[in-house]
Amino acid sequence: MDDGLVAKRPFAERLRDIYTGSMLTNMLHIGYETGLFEAAAEGPATCQELAERTNLTERYVREWLGAMVTAEIFDYRPEAGIFSLPEEHAAFLTGGSARNLAPVSRILNHFGKHVPGVIESFRHGGGVPYSEYWPEFTCFSSDVWRRIYDNHLVDDFLGRVEGLHDRLNAGADVLDIGSGDGHAINVMARAFPKSRFVGYDLSEAGVAAGNAAAEEEGLANARFEMMDVTRLPTEPKWDVITAFDSIHDQFEPQRVLDNIRGALKDDGYFLMIDFKFRSAIEDNIGNPFAPMHYGISILHCMTVSLAGGGAGLGTVWGIDKATEMVKAAGFNQVEVLDSPRPQNCIYICCP
Ligand SMILES: C[S@@+](CC[C@H](N)C(=O)[O-])C[C@H]1O[C@@H](n2cnc3c(N)ncnc32)[C@H](O)[C@@H]1O
Repeated sequence: MDDGLVAKRPFAERLRDIYTGSMLTNMLHIGYETGLFEAAAEGPATCQELAERTNLTERYVREWLGAMVTAEIFDYRPEAGIFSLPEEHAAFLTGGSARNLAPVSRILNHFGKHVPGVIESFRHGGGVPYSEYWPEFTCFSSDVWRRIYDNHLVDDFLGRVEGLHDRLNAGADVLDIGSGDGHAINVMARAFPKSRFVGYDLSEAGVAAGNAAAEEEGLANARFEMMDVTRLPTEPKWDVITAFDSIHDQFEPQRVLDNIRGALKDDGYFLMIDFKFRSAIEDNIGNPFAPMHYGISILHCMTVSLAGGGAGLGTVWGIDKATEMVKAAGFNQVEVLDSPRPQNCIYICCP
């Protein structure tokens, strides 16, 4: 009798695919950081030629190509010993645009480094503090997000808010909460020279990187300061406050949202970019991004908050919870828009 199992893929095969994906994440990381993808995108090559293009050890490159070919990421012509990265794969593994997804492998592996500490937290509570993630986290996370800001921030995020470009062109005071290494602020400061931009973050390295980049670019209208936004003052008041991927890992997220409302002018905008999930597990079933983001939550966003006894909202706090909290902070008009990245959404909040 067919109990339904016959038609189903055996679970052991699925596990094999999960482990293969995990191992290939390591291989993508290696390809990204060694420059092998960029070198392969220059054109078909033998293993020796690829090793020479990248100045790497041929034996390692050969073994890596074994993984790449059998994973069907590279093509191989054995009679000529030629390896090639198809154009349609190179499009997602090379270049400086947001389409290059290779940097994701590096941040995922960075999260993986914290598994032992997180296991301790499963056993004894608490979490792995942010300080254990710095400075690599700021750098690797920015490597993913800076491309998104370059490609989408001005037109596809800020441009979605009616009248916001006009206000920024005229000259506004803008604050970014949890500004990381400051790239988003610097992109905005370049696009809107009459406005003044400030980024607050807890990370010393992030603040230093933001200031250095602003100085290098000659952006006199951008600056960064170390600040715990749990203690964000209500003065001065800001025209626009942004929080890009920086509320759900807060120690006291409701207090931070309350502070944001307190520091915003009554006709100001609060713009939040976050992950597009629902708040209940059952509503995320079938969302292909969900398993990875529950994992990211455990290995970063939730644990950094729980480390100090915080709320531990996590990456998947979801639109339902986020809307409830933003409204509780005093934002009566909350609009949630899709973002160009399917795993994110944009909250436009007005008092
Ligand atoms: C996920 S990162 C996002 C960084 C940046 N917005 C971006 O998109 O690249 C969150 C940032 O919030 C900062 N952060 C967390 N809690 C904070 C707090 N209480 N005050 C200021 N910054 C905080 C972290 O240091 C980190 O840089």
